[in-house]
Order: sequence, then C-alpha cells, then structure tokens
Amino acid sequence: MVFARAGWTVRLFDNVPAQLDAARGHIAASLAEQQAIGLCADAAGAVARVTMASRIEDALADAAWVQENLPEQVDVKRDVYRTLDAAAPATAILASSTSAIVASRFTQMLNGRARCLVAHPVNPPHLVPIVELCGAPWTSAATIERARATMTDVGQVPIVVRRELDGFVLNRLQGALLNEAMRLVGEGYVSPEDLDKTVAHGLGLRWSFMGPFATIELNAPGGVADYCARYSGIYRKLAAEPPAPAVWDSENVARVAAALGDAPTAAERDRRMAERDRRLLALARHKRDQSET
Ligand SMILES: NC(=O)c1ccc[n+]([C@@H]2O[C@H](COP(=O)([O-])OP(=O)(O)OC[C@H]3O[C@@H](n4cnc5c(N)ncnc54)[C@H](O)[C@@H]3O)[C@@H](O)[C@H]2O)c1
Repeated sequence: MVFARAGWTVRLFDNVPAQLDAARGHIAASLAEQQAIGLCADAAGAVARVTMASRIEDALADAAWVQENLPEQVDVKRDVYRTLDAAAPATAILASSTSAIVASRFTQMLNGRARCLVAHPVNPPHLVPIVELCGAPWTSAATIERARATMTDVGQVPIVVRRELDGFVLNRLQGALLNEAMRLVGEGYVSPEDLDKTVAHGLGLRWSFMGPFATIELNAPGGVADYCARYSGIYRKLAAEPPAPAVWDSENVARVAAALGDAPTAAERDRRMAERDRRLLALARHKRDQSET
C-alpha cells in the first residue's frame, strides 16, 4: 500500500495463494479508508497498481526494490534470499522487513550481497512511517543511500542504523520501556491500566512528534548538558538497578497477565485494532497538516 499509493507498480508473491486473495481485499478496503481521510490521493488507481504473481520469478522480473516479509526464521530467509539474488535484476535492492535478524545472517553467501539490507517497518507501515535501515558489513554505501532516498520518496521516514546490533534501535527503545513496565507491574508498584495511562496521556503525547533528546533539551535552560548536570544522579541510580531478564520468566508474566485480566476475545481484539487504526489515521493526518516528520 505504501509503494502503490506513491505511484509504484507492485507485485506480491506468497507461497500460500490464500494469503494473496486475503491481501487483495485488505488492500482495497484500507486504501479506500486512507483516501477518505486524505492519506491517499487515488485509492482505485493505487489498487490497480498492485498485482499478484503466481511464481516468485514473475514478482521479481524487472523489480527495482524487493521488500521481503518472510516469517522471522533465519533459515527460511537464507533459503529464499538465494532465489531473490538469482532472479531479481542486479540493480534491484533486496530489503528485509525482519524485526530482529541482522542481514549478515542471511546474505553472506550471496553474489549480490552488497545490495542487501534490512528495511524494518513498524506495524501498520501505511500509518506509522518509520523505517530502520541497517546494512550488513558488506552492504554498499550506495545501497544505503538509495534505500534512504527511496523510502523518503514513498513517504516513509527512514533512519540509518550505522552498525548491526540486535533489536536495531526501535526495539531496543521499546525493550527498555517494556522491561521496566514488566518489573513495575509484576512487582505491584502500579496497575497495567495506570502504567498505560502514563504513556498514553504523558510521555507518548510528546513522543508523537519529538524524541527523548529533543524533549530533554527543553527541560533545562542550558540544554542537554545542563539537563544532565541537574538530573543525571537519578538516571545513574536507575541504570545501576536495571530490570533483570527474570521479568520475562513465567512467574512474572503470570503476575502481569493476572493484573491485566482476561485476554480480549477475537471480536474485541478486532474492534480495538480498528479503533487503533482509526486513531492512527487521524494522528497521521494531523502530523501531515503540521508538516512535520
Ligand atoms: N507483524 C509485525 O508487526 C511486523 C512488524 C515489523 C516487521 N515484521 C517482520 O516482517 C516479517 C513478516 O512478519 P509477519 O508478521 O507478516 O509474518 P507472517 O508469518 O504473518 O507472514 C509471513 C508470510 O510469508 C509467507 N511465506 C512463508 N514461507 C514463504 C516462502 N518460502 N515463500 C514465500 N512466502 C512465504 C507465509 O505464507 C506468510 O504469508 C518478519 O521478518 C517480521 O519480523 C513484522
């Protein structure tokens, strides 16, 4: 949807044909919603630019960009990358959506490994524009630059992770917050509802348009150095007592789950996901109207 609404021709391939059928309906419905709120100029035109390929080679022929969304399993990715590298034009970029597997683990053996990188999107990518770009040690600088330009061109917001590391940047930040949240709720300091409010009605309001550095820069008259002079004591103390990996052990997960109560039914989950996407659409439009990224 991201590429198609930006005018690109898109060919989808999945080795389970039913997935392609489901994608067709989902794409048409979602692009229509995006048009209604002003995020897509011509939904019907964008839908018409997306076709389904019955063979992977047909999807790859003449491709300029390949976005791989295989299951998060390194052996599957390694296997299919051999085909991608052999069948895609030598000029095509091969980008992986992987959330946590560094590209060096599935591209090392490829002749065309210099054109491979991770381009990690965030769900749902048509509403949350960040994309983390992270090359393997052998990814060419030209590939990273072209990927950055392409992502910008299709309306996403790329960042470059300069060296491979587990979790890239986004999931390391999310992990730091989740680790602490699991401790605070698991050890009974706060209810899950109140913890969620702290983000939704506190930190998250600023974070929807400025990051933590831009935030602290305004929280002391002399900027970041002044902020650190004033407040580093508290953060130093917290850093000395980080949440332990045991916050993910079954005992603590059970405590957190009990505090949260019954898991939502499938229908309730669908309702909440639709509500999330409705709010994200409104926020995306608001951010676009404010012309910031
Ligand atoms: N779901 C998310 O929120 C999210 C967000 C960012 C990145 N990612 C990453 O995107 C990738 C895909 O995630 P997902 O949640 O969509 O996974 P998924 O398991 O839901 O979908 C994977 C798809 O790949 C297809 N597939 C499996 N083997 C194949 C093969 N050999 N050839 C062609 N197609 C094949 C499956 O039929 C399935 O449709 C993962 O690397 C994941 O880490 C996911």
